[in-house]
Amino acid sequence: MSELVVRPLGYAAGASVTGLDLRKGLQADQLARVKAAWREHLVLVFPDQDLDAEQLIAFTRNFGEVERNDSVPYYRDPNHPEVLLVTNKPRDGKPSQTRNTGRNWHSDLSYTNRPAMGSVLMCKEKPPVGGDTMFANMYMAYDALSDRLKHFLDDMHAVHDISLIKGFERRDPAQIAELKKRNPPIAHPVVRTHPETGRKLLFISDRVRAFVGMPEEESRPILDFLNRHATSPEFVYRHRWSVNDIVMWDNRCTLHIALPDFDQTKPRHMMRCSLLGEPSGYVIQDESPMDEQAARSAIAAVS
Ligand code: SIN
Repeated sequence: MSELVVRPLGYAAGASVTGLDLRKGLQADQLARVKAAWREHLVLVFPDQDLDAEQLIAFTRNFGEVERNDSVPYYRDPNHPEVLLVTNKPRDGKPSQTRNTGRNWHSDLSYTNRPAMGSVLMCKEKPPVGGDTMFANMYMAYDALSDRLKHFLDDMHAVHDISLIKGFERRDPAQIAELKKRNPPIAHPVVRTHPETGRKLLFISDRVRAFVGMPEEESRPILDFLNRHATSPEFVYRHRWSVNDIVMWDNRCTLHIALPDFDQTKPRHMMRCSLLGEPSGYVIQDESPMDEQAARSAIAAVS
């Protein structure tokens, strides 16, 4: 086997990892190097890896517990619930329900009480051009804020809402109702400390409705600023896919967006596994964010 090489791809994030055949699994020293590279570069790209669903799950398992996609139980691989098919290929003659997955900046599963720790996405088919994915470094986004704003945000919580997934309202009404029931709005800290690097980061996204204790009209301008700031070009790595690329990203310190920058009549077919994150957050009981004390009592009453 050739030597494992880690090569940076972007200033904000991204490194390629070559010299591995992931079908054969990882030895302990290789895994340790991959984990160290992941901590440093946040997004790793493994080119030329032709894995099947089971091999992809086995690879993902090296990094933690693999999520079974129960919060969004559609478009899983029929034989492997751990694999979500992010595809624009029709199924049973109907348009794919995941053809527009990830069209606004987000961290996977932040609308649940176990926001994904990481995700692993493999490209099986791609359009001739485009279909890129962009990643934003949320350490950099936090570090670049003024001390005043950091201080303001440091102990805030924000409400993550599944209905802010772009295109959510175009889903089948019964599915919308089911997804909202499974995933009520949930508050998470706005500033988190990464458990492995000890660095502070901003945990917001386009799927945040408001800050806890602040009405939407007060929250919106601040959130709009933070989202724009966090996804500034200098904090972003843009990945242009090749077939058999595997890209893994750390959802705790990055946001990502899947761009619709391609001819939608051409297939784009991806397999995604996610890693279960630590329990986090508390459910918000009604549409308007209540004050933090009330929200905490509410979750205490239901749990
Ligand atoms: C996702 O948001 O997890 C999917 C990203 C992509 O399809 O590029």
